[in-house]
Amino acid sequence: MSKNLILVTGGAGYIGSHTVKLLLDNNYDVVVLDNLSTGYLKAVDKRAKLVVGDCRNLGLLNSLFDKYHFDGIIHFAGKIQVAESVSSPLSYYDDNSFSVLSILRAMRLYNVKNIVFSSTAAVYGSSKEDAISEDAILNPTSPYGRSKLMSENMIKDAAHAYGLKYCIFRYFNVAGASKDGSIGEAHPVETHIIPCILISQLKNKQFTLFGNDSQTRDGTNLRDYIHVLDLAKAHVLGITHLIKTKQSDIFNLGSETGYTNLEIIQAVSKVLNKEVNYVFGPRRPGDADSIVASNKHAKEILKWTIDNNLENMIRDDLNWRQKNPSLYGKNHFSNIKSDLEIVDLKIKPKKYYASLYENIENIDSFNLKKYTK
Ligand SMILES: NC(=O)c1ccc[n+]([C@@H]2O[C@H](COP(=O)([O-])OP(=O)(O)OC[C@H]3O[C@@H](n4cnc5c(N)ncnc54)[C@H](O)[C@@H]3O)[C@@H](O)[C@H]2O)c1
Repeated sequence: MSKNLILVTGGAGYIGSHTVKLLLDNNYDVVVLDNLSTGYLKAVDKRAKLVVGDCRNLGLLNSLFDKYHFDGIIHFAGKIQVAESVSSPLSYYDDNSFSVLSILRAMRLYNVKNIVFSSTAAVYGSSKEDAISEDAILNPTSPYGRSKLMSENMIKDAAHAYGLKYCIFRYFNVAGASKDGSIGEAHPVETHIIPCILISQLKNKQFTLFGNDSQTRDGTNLRDYIHVLDLAKAHVLGITHLIKTKQSDIFNLGSETGYTNLEIIQAVSKVLNKEVNYVFGPRRPGDADSIVASNKHAKEILKWTIDNNLENMIRDDLNWRQKNPSLYGKNHFSNIKSDLEIVDLKIKPKKYYASLYENIENIDSFNLKKYTK
């Protein structure tokens, strides 16, 4: 039986690279589309094909969808820093929301029916629920969260109008790395607490914990953590479910267990076998006291199970950092020799696709100044 072919956008990034590996292990063929803005060539499994390019590049999408018939798309590509989204909101709407718009247009044109989308708990804003369920009020408090909610709405509207099917995943806090330490979290600017604590302690620096005046059991923020391998597993289940049942749905992906920041520090101390050196800093504006997922829906419908606990997340992240002190090294495409199959798409001339899409040039070379002179 021929394998299903999945397009994974952002497949050179943290969550994408773990998912690509697991898809390939589960009898899927994979093409990765990634602009390598925060992703790494070395993170892409050699069994996948890689197209280096941007999801907003309609010419490129046209050539890509012309060359391959995709059974489904898993869309990870985007920017992820909440604070940066406050200072640079337009780049978040551009990279996160416009990418989805472009992918949906290509899906419509080429009759690709299934999309799995990486959304976030940030779409809920400051929910007062103990365990947030998928039908909680959506009220994102940052441009990042709003760019994701906007994308969710575009997907739902396109599904309604054009018969697309979707699986929207709202992730809570993701951590951990592959068990063999070959791939892991390497965001160019790291904002996630577990890697930030480990990075500071491996460099013998003091870690600053933001705030201790929350309404939680010890005054520090409480969050829900999920191992990247459990998250990757949910994506394999999600795309399989979508292709099989053609049922659109939305799922939280979290562990239903909340840990305070002080509990994370204690857990890291245990794994490192030494006290974490930390100090309290001011609370970050907009940080909610407590965010925990209800994951009943994913467990019931997708038969999702969670194999890893907090200690595994910390141990696997530490193992990845110790095995790869410079992580993936430099991020430059041209400097790295690779035996990965990198597909060079001959992008069709604009006249070929301009009538299909709107009149937008190659976004990679889009220069606003040119148009505002
Ligand atoms: N990491 C988390 O804790 C977390 C939590 C909630 C949601 N998410 C979502 O999961 C997704 C993946 O997150 P991650 O942690 O793996 O981030 P990441 O930065 O490691 O991966 C994103 C990947 O997308 C690529 N990319 C970005 N914009 C692109 C574009 N326009 N075209 C092509 N490629 C592009 C980057 O080069 C990178 O490889 C994101 O959409 C993020 O919003 C992540």
